[in-house]
Amino acid sequence: MSPADSLIAALGLVPHVEGGHFGECWRSAATLASENGERSLASTIYYLLSTRAPVGRFHRNTSDITHFFHSGGPIVYGLISPAGEWREVVLGRDPRAGQVLAFTCPGGWWKCSYLPAGVEHGLISEVVAPGFDETDRSLADADLFGRLFPQHRARWAAYVGDPHER
Ligand code: GUN
Repeated sequence: MSPADSLIAALGLVPHVEGGHFGECWRSAATLASENGERSLASTIYYLLSTRAPVGRFHRNTSDITHFFHSGGPIVYGLISPAGEWREVVLGRDPRAGQVLAFTCPGGWWKCSYLPAGVEHGLISEVVAPGFDETDRSLADADLFGRLFPQHRARWAAYVGDPHER
């Protein structure tokens, strides 16, 4: 069994609609009244990219999401702010090489993730606050991004649309 497949089995991960595999670890019983309705204070997941599912397609969430590196990697993140600024963040084990061990994608920013060539897997945790709710997340497609961010087309073209149809 590959390292990624053994992690998927050991952690009980399942395919994610964004691409990759995930499993929810924890969700606070306490709630808050967010501007979108009642939400858990926070929730956490494991998230894995692997050669089998190497791309997390562009999406955005109303909550802030903090990402913590665990193993494998690095994982590259493409981020686009609501104002259209492009950022790249590399999540990995070596801060001396410009990688970060953790970073927060602010609510409202678009985010994609992918494995560089030759990387077998990358395992992380995400903390979502307020806690994840599917109605707080939007998935990008080429029509939407063509209208919103035509200036970044070369950067987003491989990371929009259904990863399961690739
Ligand atoms: N946190 C980030 N993405 C997700 C998701 O798709 N489901 C759950 N439960 N938590 C998440």
